[in-house]
Amino acid sequence: MAYENILSEKKNGIQYITINRAAKLNALNKKTLEEINAAFTACETDNDVKVVILTGDGTKAFVAGADISEFANFSVEEGKKLSAVGHKTVFDMIENFNKPVIAAINGFALGGGLELAMSCHIRVVSDNAKMGLPEVGLGVIPGYGGTQRLAQLIGKGRAFEMIMTADMLGAEDAHRVGLVNHVTTQENLIAKCEEIASKILTKSSVAIAHAIRSVNAGFKDGVNGYDVEIDEFGKCFGTEDFKEGTTAFVEKRKAAFPGK
Ligand code: COA
Repeated sequence: MAYENILSEKKNGIQYITINRAAKLNALNKKTLEEINAAFTACETDNDVKVVILTGDGTKAFVAGADISEFANFSVEEGKKLSAVGHKTVFDMIENFNKPVIAAINGFALGGGLELAMSCHIRVVSDNAKMGLPEVGLGVIPGYGGTQRLAQLIGKGRAFEMIMTADMLGAEDAHRVGLVNHVTTQENLIAKCEEIASKILTKSSVAIAHAIRSVNAGFKDGVNGYDVEIDEFGKCFGTEDFKEGTTAFVEKRKAAFPGK
């Protein structure tokens, strides 16, 4: 499928989704969000895709936020809808995606850009990256899950300070507080993500999908994560991957998971 604002290509079990509006620092306008949704929807059921790497085009920005020019004149109702649709079609979708999503953060990740990175399962940043939630400087708050996911990742006190001051964190500070998993150079960014992906690719994709659901359950209101884990653990026993994984162990060979 041809997209206007993103690139999406598949190679060796990895789907590379690149936000491709470098002239606007990859800001998330409506069309871009729709295309991100379409690209994820397409690879959700594609059995050849086991991992997604999400990045931004160019060397300056991952994503510099939601496209401010699009919502500057919105009413209360329109603002609420903007947030709700974004949550459902992109940010929640990525967080609950059935395959691991790795954010390759190659520069500014601000506002909706940091929120996008935080909805991914794993974050790798280049050493020039700058991350922050500048929304209160625009008279608004993070509306794509930032108030929730930032506090989950770095703790409530640090999240409050980042949101209230709108300060940006550099790569090393982001790593120190647990906002990102790894820091590397811009040149090595995709290779580092591919190194992580290559480990994931040798594992059971079915078990990984169960693990994603279990981990996320602990962060959902009214859901008991332990109960979900029990259920998801049990389901693994009915899969071909479980049969192959345990048989390979007993036979002292590497498992060749069918992904079923
Ligand atoms: N929405 C819409 N357009 C954006 C944007 C955003 N969030 N972030 C950057 N752009 C556009 C700029 O308007 C500019 O477009 P133009 O060349 O047509 O004028 C282009 O991207 C380049 O940005 P510019 O501001 O000239 O780059 P810079 O190097 O001087 O500054 C930033 C970089 C990231 C500090 C600055 O772009 C910025 O503060 N962006 C907004 C960040 C933000 O508040 N995000 C949260 C939104 S809720």
